[in-house]
Amino acid sequence: MEKMVIKTEITEMLGIKHPIVAAPMGPFYTTKLTIAVSEAGGLGVLSHVTLSEGITVNQIKDSMKTVVEYTDKPFGVNIRTAALQPDAIKLCRQIPRFIMDNPKIKEQCTYLITSAGSPKILYNKHFRALQERSNIKNFHVVPSLKLAKKVIKDGVDGIVATGHEGGGHQSYEKTSTLVLLQQIKKEFPEIPMIACGGYATGEGLASALAMGAGAIAMGTRLIASKECEFHENYKNEVKNSTIADTKLVTGVFGPARVLNNNYAQSATIVLNKAEKRAEEDSMSKIRDGVLKLEKAYKGDVDNGIILLGQSCGLVEEIESVSDIINSIVYSAEKCLRKAYYMVN
Ligand SMILES: Cc1cc2nc3c(=O)[nH]c(=O)nc-3n(C[C@H](O)[C@H](O)[C@H](O)COP(=O)(O)O)c2cc1C
Repeated sequence: MEKMVIKTEITEMLGIKHPIVAAPMGPFYTTKLTIAVSEAGGLGVLSHVTLSEGITVNQIKDSMKTVVEYTDKPFGVNIRTAALQPDAIKLCRQIPRFIMDNPKIKEQCTYLITSAGSPKILYNKHFRALQERSNIKNFHVVPSLKLAKKVIKDGVDGIVATGHEGGGHQSYEKTSTLVLLQQIKKEFPEIPMIACGGYATGEGLASALAMGAGAIAMGTRLIASKECEFHENYKNEVKNSTIADTKLVTGVFGPARVLNNNYAQSATIVLNKAEKRAEEDSMSKIRDGVLKLEKAYKGDVDNGIILLGQSCGLVEEIESVSDIINSIVYSAEKCLRKAYYMVN
C-alpha cells in the first residue's frame, strides 16, 4: 500500500499522523485499544471507566501510566461530566493534576474530551495551569447545534459533532451526523471539529473532511479490532449485525443506541427529557443499567446492554487496528483525489 498522509487542523493540533480518533467507550476499559490506535498513527482515547470493581480515578490514572509505558505517541482521555456522574468533579480536579505531575503523560496527553454534561466543570485552576504548561486541548461532544453554541461560548478548543446514528448515548433531538456537520459548519466555520457517529470507511472519512471536519472519531468500528479488550462475543455482534439491528432505548443518561437483543426488546422506549429527569430520582434504575453494561462487557450479548452504532452494518471483519486505520486512510485519499478531479 502506497504511503500517504492527510494533514488537517486536527492532526496538527493533536500531534497525530492520521485524522482518525478513537471515540471513548466507557464504562469499559479501552487501554489496549488506546495504545493500538495511537501506535497506528491515530489518537487513542481512554474511556471514563466506571465498572464496579476498583475506584474510577485510580483506574484512569493506572491506564494513563500503562499507555505511556507502551507508546510514545499522543493519546487522549474522556471525562463524562453529566450531573448524574458521581465522580465527574473529582476527576476534573485530579486528572489535570495527575497529568501535570507526570512529565511523559503531560507530553503525550493532548486531548481531554468531555461529554454528557458541561465542559465548564473542567475549567478549574488545575486544568488552567495544565493548559498553560502543555499542549492539551479540550473538546466536547455535541449532538446538537444548541449545545455547540453553548460550549463554544464556554471556551472549548474544539467539538466532536456526534450524530444520531452513533453508538451509545444520544440526544433527544435525533439529528443525523450529516445534517449536524452542515448546521455547525454554517454557524461556526472556524471551530475545530471532529465528525463522529456512523464512520467506519474511507468514504466516510473523505466526506467528513470535505465537509470541513478535521478528523473522524469511531467507536463501533474499533470494537471489532483484534486489540480491543471487549469480549469476543461483543466483537462478533459488531461483525455480524446489520444496520437494522440497533435500537434506541432509555439509557443511563438518556436515549442510547444499542443492539436490539433480548434486553433491548423488553427495554422501555426513549422518554422525553422531563420524564427522564423524574426517573433519575430512582437510583436503582441507574444501578440496574450499570449492571447490564457489566454483563455486556463480560460477554452476555443477549441480556447485557450492548452499546452499538448503525455503523455495525458496515463492519464485516475483526481486523488489527493498524489494518483498519491504514485501509480507511488509503481509500479516503482515493476518494478525495477522485473528487478533486471533478473540479475543472
Ligand atoms: C460501547 C460504547 C460505549 C460508549 N461510551 C461512551 C462514553 O463513555 N463517553 C462518551 O462520550 N461516549 C461514549 N460512547 C459514544 C462514542 O464515544 C461515539 O460517540 C460513538 O461510538 C460514535 O458512533 P460509532 O459507534 O458509529 O462510531 C460510547 C459508544 C459505544 C459504542
